[in-house]
Amino acid sequence: MKGVVFTEFVELVEGTFSPHLMDELFEAVSLKSGGAYTSVGTYDYLEMVALATELSQRTGVAVPELLRAFGKQLLRQFVIKFPAFFETANAFEFLERVDGYIHVEVKKLYPDAELPRFAVSRSGDDRLEMVYISDRPFEDLAFGLIEGAIEHFGDSVEIDRDTTDAGIRFVLTARCEEPACLYNAPIAAPSVSVLPGSRPSNCLSRRVANSTRRICSCGRRATNWKNASRRERANSGWR
Ligand code: HEM
Repeated sequence: MKGVVFTEFVELVEGTFSPHLMDELFEAVSLKSGGAYTSVGTYDYLEMVALATELSQRTGVAVPELLRAFGKQLLRQFVIKFPAFFETANAFEFLERVDGYIHVEVKKLYPDAELPRFAVSRSGDDRLEMVYISDRPFEDLAFGLIEGAIEHFGDSVEIDRDTTDAGIRFVLTARCEEPACLYNAPIAAPSVSVLPGSRPSNCLSRRVANSTRRICSCGRRATNWKNASRRERANSGWR
């Protein structure tokens, strides 16, 4: 497992709990690496399992919950470290690219990375299925990474999870209660940002850098505000 995952785990423990607790974990768990992680190094993934198990015993927080919280934090770090991967219109578009593009690029960068596979399928605009396939037990980390991506894009998505023969399946359903998601005129923006005036917090219209694609994050077909009826504009908060 790549060192970046370990260094972020150490950050999470030190930030959420304390540096002292992290030292205790290093002392309690016998690690082949000795715990001297660097972001470019590669370490046995079982060290992560051992550290998470020890942390769970000491904090009383279950391992799945810890890994999920860790996944969310890791996603926030990926946003900072790999901003180009996030230049998509919404969370679904981003998540659809993890298996076929993002992890492929990660593998080019780090040939020794051990990456999971995701069987991804779309059924309709508002439903995305991702089946986690891996020899390693990190489905809760995947859950947190998915939640982190949804949070990053400001989408409103319900996640159901079950076990199939192929692996753990996440079923994502976009929710949008607004009658219409209306978009502003295209503006060359430096990065993805929420448009001023995109009123409802659970239905955020977004603009994408240098892109003419403007797809509503809730999965509804978006209407360019210029073509929208007066009533649609009034409903959406546009004047
Ligand atoms: C910019 C986005 C992303 C980047 C740069 C990225 C990169 C990485 C890297 C470097 C690793 C460590 C590989 C190793 O351990 O050797 C990893 C592992 C992993 N990634 Fe991603 N990832 C991204 C997004 C995601 C997302 C959104 C998901 C979930 C849908 C995901 C699921 C996982 C899981 C579960 C692992 C742990 C290994 C395993 O389960 O087999 N990643 N990723």
